[in-house]
Amino acid sequence: MLLNTIEMAPADPILGLTDAFKADTNVAKINLGVGVYQDATGKTPTLESVKEAAKQVIASETTKSYLPITGDPGYGAVVQQMLFGDDHAIITDKRAATAHTPGGTGALRVAGDFIHRKFPGATIWLSDPTWANHKAIFESARVPVKTYAYLDAARTGLDFDAMTAGLANIAPGDVVLLHACCHNPTGVDPNIAQWKAIAELIKTRGAFPLVDFAYQGFGDGLEEDAAGLRALLDICPEVMICSSFSKNFGLYRERVGAFTLVAADSNTLAKAVSHVKICIRTNYSNPPAHGAALVTTILNDASLQTQWEAELTAMRARINEMRQTFVKSLADAGATRDYSFIASQRGMFSFSGLNPDQVRQLQADHAVYIVGSGRINVAGMTADNMDRLCKAIVAVGG
Ligand code: LMR
Repeated sequence: MLLNTIEMAPADPILGLTDAFKADTNVAKINLGVGVYQDATGKTPTLESVKEAAKQVIASETTKSYLPITGDPGYGAVVQQMLFGDDHAIITDKRAATAHTPGGTGALRVAGDFIHRKFPGATIWLSDPTWANHKAIFESARVPVKTYAYLDAARTGLDFDAMTAGLANIAPGDVVLLHACCHNPTGVDPNIAQWKAIAELIKTRGAFPLVDFAYQGFGDGLEEDAAGLRALLDICPEVMICSSFSKNFGLYRERVGAFTLVAADSNTLAKAVSHVKICIRTNYSNPPAHGAALVTTILNDASLQTQWEAELTAMRARINEMRQTFVKSLADAGATRDYSFIASQRGMFSFSGLNPDQVRQLQADHAVYIVGSGRINVAGMTADNMDRLCKAIVAVGG
């Protein structure tokens, strides 16, 4: 017997919370843990544009044979248009290659495997705080992890000086992970001038930027949210980008993501991509087709694209409305702290400032589920749960 020597592993800090939420019998329970968009009725519906695209995909599909290791090239093309904008020089100069990966997590793991395989001495630098899974993914890929400072003392805004002071210490060849927009878990992003300064610093240090782009369209708009990445690309000739379409297409369970590598020229790119392909082949071989086919179909059809963009805009508008309502309702419920910073943050998440004890109390006494770090999923708030949520936060001393 070997298995009986194994101790229980800790539950996942985010997905484990969903399991606990499902098991809770309190009918008034509120799930603000995992980053999944919910509409005004608390549902996570399939987008109408996605349903229409699915009909077309099923009707036109002729085979279930394997895709290439990097997926459908047509998908790679639409991903690059979203990242860089139509006719960007990176596209016309063939300086980028995109692999379809199982979700953004799959993309990050491919990046980790690629870094370990080709740059075994490299450390990856993550913002403190960052998405709970980042550290685990890179450590699993045997890439050493270090952190750079990100938040100010109040933990509500960016401490740019501390961030750049931290990045000034990185060694040549190290990798710096940046969130393209809607920083997870804080909702705090650098402005464009700061992006340019960060890019110059990374370039001067001889480091390699890796941009995690999971929320395009959830901040200020599809183009606006790509502005930081594009500023970085103007300065840094080599960039890795991990995309996710879980949120902006609502395709969570279809696992649609992409790993895009940008090199200084197409010859260098071809050599690097040959190793990315080995990382993929020895992990999941080649990607699942359906979700990427939906994205490709929508982005290649003008009317479906318009419909999808309207659905995305509606999700973004609802989240921003909930941010405003949340700030006001907390004040109405008697919160002594000023929460107005939440209204100026972007994306699904905000740091509430609640400590681990208060988070535990929220769950145990009020059936309100948020991540242990105090991260709140604003996209899970509704007009119906707002009052109860704010009273619970005030009751635990928030
Ligand atoms: C989150 O941060 O909640 C999402 O990205 C979902 C996940 O996989 O953790």
